[in-house]
Amino acid sequence: MNNIKIREPVTKEEFEQYYNLRWRILRHPWNQPFGSERDDKENRSIHIIACINDKIVGCGRGHFNSQTEAQIRFMAVEKEFSGKGIGTQILKALEKKLTEKGAKSIILNARKNAVSFYKKIGYEIVEKSHTLFGEIEHFKMKKEKNLK
Ligand SMILES: CC(C)(COP(=O)(O)OP(=O)(O)OC[C@H]1O[C@@H](n2cnc3c(N)ncnc32)[C@H](O)[C@@H]1OP(=O)(O)O)[C@@H](O)C(=O)NCCC(=O)NCCS
Repeated sequence: MNNIKIREPVTKEEFEQYYNLRWRILRHPWNQPFGSERDDKENRSIHIIACINDKIVGCGRGHFNSQTEAQIRFMAVEKEFSGKGIGTQILKALEKKLTEKGAKSIILNARKNAVSFYKKIGYEIVEKSHTLFGEIEHFKMKKEKNLK
């Protein structure tokens, strides 16, 4: 897809659309209220969106757990645009920004259905982690080689 732009959200409206996408894809299907798509690290995180014209069709977020360990959360791509490489572009943009800021390793908690997506981009399973909303199994994954 060459009409896609990968960048940080800028305006208040873009941030609203971005949080709304997170909620619709990652929370609403499990009856979680609006607001549950955010945590207390938003102000110190790197946010990336994928845009087609004015529409945000994908997103992801990165933050630091320590000076050298970063974490990625809230990866989501609109269903009708999945499987077109957008998630990969978002993840790589986050990796680039996080490594530029000093990340030597990146961890994430992958939903079971997304484990093979992250494996393709070089993440390895560390251990089984939590189960969200009583049903979504997660796996802690980590990447420390080939980060640039
Ligand atoms: C997981 C997700 C972010 C991937 O984004 P995407 O844009 O669909 O992924 P890409 O098109 O970049 O896929 C890259 C590769 O991973 C593979 N893949 C493996 N599991 C996948 C999955 N569950 N969804 C999409 N692609 C998957 C694709 O086949 C593709 O392989 P290819 O390059 O050989 O064709 C997206 O599908 C999504 O939002 N899913 C629902 C929410 C979710 O589970 N988020 C992750 C929370 S941890």
